[in-house]
Amino acid sequence: MTRSRARVGPQSTKAAPRLDVDGLLDDTSVGIVVCCGSGGVGKTTTSAALGLRAAERGRRVVVLTIDPARRLAQSMGIAELDNTPRPVAGIDATAGGSLDAMMLDMKRTFDEVVESQASPEKAAQILANPFYVAVSSSFAGTQEYMAMEKLGQLDQDARRTGRWDLIVVDTPPSRSALDFLDAPERLAGFLDGRFMRLLLAPAKGPARLMTAGFGLVTNALTRIIGAQVLRDMQTFVTAFDTLFGGFRQRAQRTFELLQADGTAFLVVAAPEPDALREAAYFVERLKEERMPLAGLVVNRASRPPEGDLSADRAMAGVERLRATGETSPASEMTAGLLRLHADRVRIVERETRLRRSFATSHPDVATAVLPALATDVHDLDGLRTIGDLLGSQC
Ligand SMILES: Nc1ncnc2c1ncn2[C@@H]1O[C@H](COP(=O)(O)OP(=O)(O)OP(=O)(O)O)[C@@H](O)[C@H]1O
Ligand SMILES: [Mg+2]
Repeated sequence: MTRSRARVGPQSTKAAPRLDVDGLLDDTSVGIVVCCGSGGVGKTTTSAALGLRAAERGRRVVVLTIDPARRLAQSMGIAELDNTPRPVAGIDATAGGSLDAMMLDMKRTFDEVVESQASPEKAAQILANPFYVAVSSSFAGTQEYMAMEKLGQLDQDARRTGRWDLIVVDTPPSRSALDFLDAPERLAGFLDGRFMRLLLAPAKGPARLMTAGFGLVTNALTRIIGAQVLRDMQTFVTAFDTLFGGFRQRAQRTFELLQADGTAFLVVAAPEPDALREAAYFVERLKEERMPLAGLVVNRASRPPEGDLSADRAMAGVERLRATGETSPASEMTAGLLRLHADRVRIVERETRLRRSFATSHPDVATAVLPALATDVHDLDGLRTIGDLLGSQC
């Protein structure tokens, strides 16, 4: 208790090392940048801004975004879901770079995996099965899994065609930042699960059907969910079972890709206790999984107000004004502005304390602080501004 108190005290904390964003984007040995973090912290904005900045600094970039806000998607020319990267118009290509962008279509990506793994007839059979439709569009973690799947595909395309030398990956708006790391395992676990095995067993051949145990289970299930539904389910699971090895292997390959030296993770967080706690878990988890962390982006930080008037002195000014007994609009307004100033100073101090506390427990994590802009980021200019702010950290 005393120790943890001591850790957040101003004397015992220190500032984090600065994250050299341009150094990262210019490093040609880095081929994948993954922006992750908990919901709503600015992952999509950061990925798009980094993609644009890297492209304008001369790299050939593809950005994989997940559910970007409609206006941002429109400004990048990716409002249409076709699951294929498209060139982004309006970028400055004088340094020789290019920017392609795409928005993940989860269902389409799942279909593509099935199509690439099964014979055409079998693929058609799976795609038409009602259980496939349900699993592919609603299984918890599917979006996370498919984002990683798409990353694997883009990486292969990049190697094959040489069209891109940098892939910037956004991650889904999960409740927990860790979900996308767990998703492949969870999907594999689901397909490998006992329930699936049970369903699969009777479909494996008449001999198995004869066994009393399975017969009973199947009969019970038939009564509960109906013969047609059960048949659909069994057909789905049988068909899927043949793809299953492929799924596991792909998940394994993607994991290895994420662990490779050419990959850099950026954890995005808001300057709030929950988001930074989540970021801390994430940093630790990446370390455990031996995935290369480039740094932390603390997004939407409050800008310090002009001048060096402290919160206490501003509030003392309010007191002094009150003591004069003056109630003119000018004095009311001055008191209001002083209060506002004090609030902002305190917020900035609190955020600095939180960041320092994070830096104290994770001293090696390079950090960039990105201020909150006055408006949402919904066009290339906004992304450029974010990129400039990220690039001017050193
Ligand atoms: N530094 C910033 N200044 C102002 N607005 C910002 C900033 N960063 C992000 N935003 C805005 O905050 C909103 C959420 O950002 P964004 O969509 O990038 O978050 P996210 O982490 O991708 O969210 P989700 O988890 O839902 O996918 C957007 O409207 C975006 O324009
Ligand atoms: Mg997002």
